[in-house]
Amino acid sequence: MTDTEKTPALGYTEKYPDHYYHEEDQDVGYHEEEPYLNYDEDDPDLDYIEEPLDDAPLEMIGAGSCGSVWSCNVPDSKWFRHVIKREDRSSNRSIVKEYLMHQRIQWPPRFHSFSVPVNYDLIGKNDDAFWKDKLERFGEDYQPCYALVSDRIPAFPRSVREEIVKRYCPPELRSTILNSRSNDACLMRAYLGRRKMPQTEEDKPKRFVGFSLRNYPLRADQMEEMGLDTEIYAYAMADALAMLHWDKGIDANDVEFVLAPPTLYTYGVPHDSDIIGKHKVWLLDFDLCQDMSMDEAGVNQAVEAFFRNDPYYPRPYTSSTDELDPLWVVFKKQFLRTSEILLRACHTNLPGLWVDKIEKTSKTIVKKRLKGEC
Ligand SMILES: Nc1ncnc2c1ncn2[C@@H]1O[C@H](COP(=O)(O)OP(=O)(O)O)[C@@H](O)[C@H]1O
Ligand SMILES: [Mg+2]
Repeated sequence: MTDTEKTPALGYTEKYPDHYYHEEDQDVGYHEEEPYLNYDEDDPDLDYIEEPLDDAPLEMIGAGSCGSVWSCNVPDSKWFRHVIKREDRSSNRSIVKEYLMHQRIQWPPRFHSFSVPVNYDLIGKNDDAFWKDKLERFGEDYQPCYALVSDRIPAFPRSVREEIVKRYCPPELRSTILNSRSNDACLMRAYLGRRKMPQTEEDKPKRFVGFSLRNYPLRADQMEEMGLDTEIYAYAMADALAMLHWDKGIDANDVEFVLAPPTLYTYGVPHDSDIIGKHKVWLLDFDLCQDMSMDEAGVNQAVEAFFRNDPYYPRPYTSSTDELDPLWVVFKKQFLRTSEILLRACHTNLPGLWVDKIEKTSKTIVKKRLKGEC
């Protein structure tokens, strides 16, 4: 046992009482819970599909291999708080599948520690009522396609964008970044599993390759520099993975975790910071998630997904294989604890097996890296 493991860390509930589960969930059987809607059903904003559409232009605020993601940056517009994810970037990826996964994941929204944007609707290619008013608002040459309508994860305000640019953007790019509209859609990926590598002068890239505030890849050392609480993000990710694996039977392949402001309807007290303001950990992008079985094969699948994903999760070993990384220890404790609550008496060996396999694989990776083999 390492020193970090011997030190009794405060549990999540003690340290962040406001961020734990919806209080009724603590002792009540999860599957008997009524779905819990976290918004005011009388809010007129939710009638946006039935209401006459405003004509403010839609803008692409994100894109991946599956879809382009559109919203409206005019605050009065009904689409300001929502996004349309179009299935228009790869024929191998399916929005219908994402819709089914998203629905499964979002109800009931039981955790306070992370948020999932609410997904409202799946739009078909032949849904004329939807497309007829909207196609021209995408620009020329856009065709009807499958699409999802979800809550927009709010972008960080200008003051935060300026701060990130001041800290991390090369001076010669600063004004371009701050004046480009595409960088207004600023979310930050929470890369707890990445730290700045020590660089020699020779290693330093001679020319800068790029900088974007969209999905800005925020490393653990940058979070620490800004006084952000990396432990609370580790708790959030541990809860999210435990929920996806054991409660939903989903491997979490290719999901994303971003830091971004809360919406009006996000429940759980948001985290606060002098530098980046009020924010939550958001979980998104479910189109590559797969079902997993509740056995060792399923655990192997989930372990693969863990390492294949971008470095959101803390890693057990980083620069040496002597000691477990303290942030991993925090993550692991929370993962095991939440898993136990979710699984109750079933499959109770699986979370421990998952942890063992992650630690073993991480050790092998670091050993290889130290030998220069990867
Ligand atoms: N609900 C949302 N609110 C705000 N931005 C979003 C939302 N969904 C996606 N995005 C942005 O669009 C990008 C691409 O969307 P994503 O779902 O990851 O597509 P893909 O499946 O093609 O990777 C995301 O990385 C994120 O920056
Ligand atoms: Mg994506």
